[in-house]
Formats: sequence, C-alpha cells, structure tokens
Amino acid sequence: MRRLFPVTDQTVPTHSGGSPLGARGEGGDAAQDRERDGERNPERDRERNPERDREWSLDELADAYAYPEPGSGSSSSSSESGRGTAPEPGPGTASEPGPGERRPWLRANMVSTLDGAAQHEGRSQPISTAADMRIFGTLRGLADVVVVGAETVRLEGYRPARARAEFARRREAAGQGPAPAVAVVTAGLDLDFSLPLFTSPLVPTLILTGAAAAPDKVAAAERAGARVVIAGDGMGVDPARAVRALADLGHTRLLTEGGPRLLGQFVAAGVLDELCLTVSPMLTVGDAQRIAGGPSLAVPQRFALASLLEEEGFLFGRYRRP
Ligand SMILES: NC(=O)c1ccc[n+]([C@@H]2O[C@H](COP(=O)([O-])OP(=O)(O)OC[C@H]3O[C@@H](n4cnc5c(N)ncnc54)[C@H](OP(=O)(O)O)[C@@H]3O)[C@@H](O)[C@H]2O)c1
Repeated sequence: MRRLFPVTDQTVPTHSGGSPLGARGEGGDAAQDRERDGERNPERDRERNPERDREWSLDELADAYAYPEPGSGSSSSSSESGRGTAPEPGPGTASEPGPGERRPWLRANMVSTLDGAAQHEGRSQPISTAADMRIFGTLRGLADVVVVGAETVRLEGYRPARARAEFARRREAAGQGPAPAVAVVTAGLDLDFSLPLFTSPLVPTLILTGAAAAPDKVAAAERAGARVVIAGDGMGVDPARAVRALADLGHTRLLTEGGPRLLGQFVAAGVLDELCLTVSPMLTVGDAQRIAGGPSLAVPQRFALASLLEEEGFLFGRYRRP
C-alpha cells in the first residue's frame, strides 16, 4: 500500500531515476540498464523502496480513515442549512449538536470496476481484493453503525459485525461499543429473521423502515431481537430522516455499504458526506449496476479528493463533499 495523494515520498516513482528512500545498487547491472531504458522492474522497486509496498497495519489504516473530529468539516446537518439540496428537517430532527458534540457524518464505502460495475454475478467480492477487504474492515471498525439496503443483505448473506481486537482500544477511547450495529433499510421486511444478523449480533440489529410497514413483519423482526426504527411516513424510509434517526440513537459515525439503490437515495437527499471508493483494475462489460442508482440528479454533485492510496493497481480514494 502506498499513498498517492496527498503527495508524499511514497508517491515518487522509483523506476525513473532513483528512490528518495535509499536507492542502492551502484553500477550497471543488466536489470538497472533495462530500468534506465524505461523498463519497469517491480522487484527492484520494492527493494529500493520497501516503504512503498509494505502492507499497512490496521492501525495505520484506521488513522488514515478516521472520522472528522467534532466541529471540523462539512456534515449532513450543515448541508441541510447551507446548500439547500436536502429536504427541510422534519419531525424527529436531531437537535443541533452542542460544542464538542458530533454531527452525523455519513460515509459510503463502495467498489467499482474500471467500467463502472458495482458487482459481478450479483456480488461485489469478485471485483474486490485483500487490501480492499482490509479497508472495508477498518471502516467498519471505525463506525458506530453500518447502514445497508435489504437487497445487499439478502444477496451478500450479511452477518453481524464482529468485535475485533485490533480496534478495541480505539473504539473504547471513542466511546463506542465493541462492534458497530448493522441497520438494514427495508420497506417490505422480507428478511430471514432466523439468521445470525438478527438472532445473535453483539449489538441489536436495527431495521429502518416506514410507519406503514406491515405490523406482522415488524413484530417478527422484534421477536427475533431486532430494533425497529421508523424513518418515513409511508412504506419507505426517507434517507435524510434515517440519518437523523440514527444520530438520535447516538450513532453519528455512519457508514453505508450500499447497495447502489440505497446509496443513490442518500446522494439525492444531499446527506452523503464522504465516499470511500475502491477502483478495481478490472473490466467486466455487461449490465451490472453502478455504485449509485436511481433517477439522475438535476445537477451533478462535486466531491473533493481527500486521499488516494494504491496497492497492486487498486486505487482507494476518499472523496468528501467540499
Ligand atoms: N460495489 C459495491 O461496493 C457494492 C456494495 C453493496 C452492494 N453491492 C451489490 O449491489 C447489489 C444490491 O444492491 P441494490 O442496489 O440492488 O439494493 P440495495 O440498495 O442493497 O437494497 C435495496 C433494497 O433496500 C430497501 N430500500 C432501499 N431504499 C429504501 C427506502 N428508501 N425505504 C425503504 N427501503 C428501502 C428495499 O428493501 P425491501 O425490498 O426489503 O423493501 C430495497 O429493495 C448486490 O448485487 C450487491 O452485491 C455492491
């Protein structure tokens, strides 16, 4: 893993004129000659700059992906008053945070191929890689709650989030429980409530649904141990209200793992603060969904690049709403 942006020593290419971190191997062996002629030698790159290709510890990744401190940067709440793209706060609005308190920060984590596919054969695993999964795990390790659409839960066989020793101290210091809650967004509640996601999570799984959800399904969810949270007046969930409802429960470090139909609604509602996007160096062709779906926006939303990491050709970007 190496950092490409913000620019650091790790960014400097080692194949064109030496590494800033202790290039070695004076003289003209054949490999070096080839290198001078422009031929890339990854093995030599690694030798010259071990910093570049080393696997980052989970602690380093957690530092790199830390949520903004209270009072810094933009937030869903600020967008509601500032840019006017989000619906007006309605009933159940979280009160304005006091000094030092957190506003909700909604981050999404998605992976896409070069040609924009967000899945292959119905799953995201084939377009992911080990480094992507480490970041995926790290983002979970930093979150209060993981918000996910019901179709992703059904197709990807979601399990409860684990408590991981690597994040225990950090979570305790941040006042978080040992693992994030999972919040499933659903209108129909057609979920298998006998799965461990509902029966044996460390923290009760949340069901975000509308006030008109079928009472028998709501009762089944509650019997299984889930906590049902109403975040919409009809069958469906209002995305901005979902963010506020989670904040009211004390969940301000929000992570959505999609899927595309859910993410599209968070974007359209103007409540997405950050996108952690893995660009997978693969082409799949076909008609897979892209990372955000639904009706197109009247005006494209511009995000700013906050950081860019790279490993084995996979790019790990972090984009924030300016
Ligand atoms: N590339 C990636 O990073 C990534 C990430 C996640 C998923 N995926 C892939 O994406 C696919 C699934 O994504 P998807 O877009 O089809 O589905 P999704 O967004 O995961 O889930 C859609 C479902 O969520 C519920 N939902 C969404 N918005 C709602 C609202 N406003 N109110 C109430 N319920 C709402 C509905 O559930 P009910 O039907 O229960 O009412 C809806 O059918 C899978 O193939 C998965 O592998 C890829």
